Amino acid sequence: MRRVAILISGGGSNMEALVRDMGGDHPARAVLVVSNVPGAGGLAKAQALGVPTAVVDHRDYPTREAFEAALTQALRPAAPELICLAGFMRVLTAGFVAGWEGRMLNIHPSLLPKYKGLNTHARAIEAGDAQAGCSVHEVTARLDDGPILGQARVPVEPGDTPDTLAARILPWEHRLYPAVLRRFALGDKRPVLLP
Ligand code: GRF
Repeated sequence: MRRVAILISGGGSNMEALVRDMGGDHPARAVLVVSNVPGAGGLAKAQALGVPTAVVDHRDYPTREAFEAALTQALRPAAPELICLAGFMRVLTAGFVAGWEGRMLNIHPSLLPKYKGLNTHARAIEAGDAQAGCSVHEVTARLDDGPILGQARVPVEPGDTPDTLAARILPWEHRLYPAVLRRFALGDKRPVLLP
């Protein structure tokens, strides 16, 4: 049974989808949810689902490295084998990422390699793209750049705003990430393509 830690910064809807899927014959279990933001909505969701939680507030540390050392300490008791970043809004240093190479996933709200970084929906609308979506990828030192493990495509509708497009994509994130983790936890790296 693979042990998964999930890192969040906000509402944690992707974390919740992952935790709800990790039951029964699923090859993994959530062992810890960590937020860098005290009081993040996802912490209450995790607790309601019976998953232990921790907070490592990045504002308490003078450097990224110091924050990541504290993060590593918070993770240690749970002994996770995999990390899922789910709405986690901190950029991790190459050093931290190297320690989790091949064992850390992230979900990004665009059809990578398009629109790395922020404001992905606004950029897709601005570009006049017919399709948008989300991607799950292995985390490497370059931001939003690792091997793609899954994608979900949705149409961009006339009159879409970033919010209406985000609302159309989010339910697909909640289908994609659990499907990718089920495969990845078994060592299967074939991409999941939805719908
Ligand atoms: C989602 O759009 C996700 O793609 C991005 O963060 C947003 C919020 O995610 N990574 P969540 O509800 O906190 O999981």
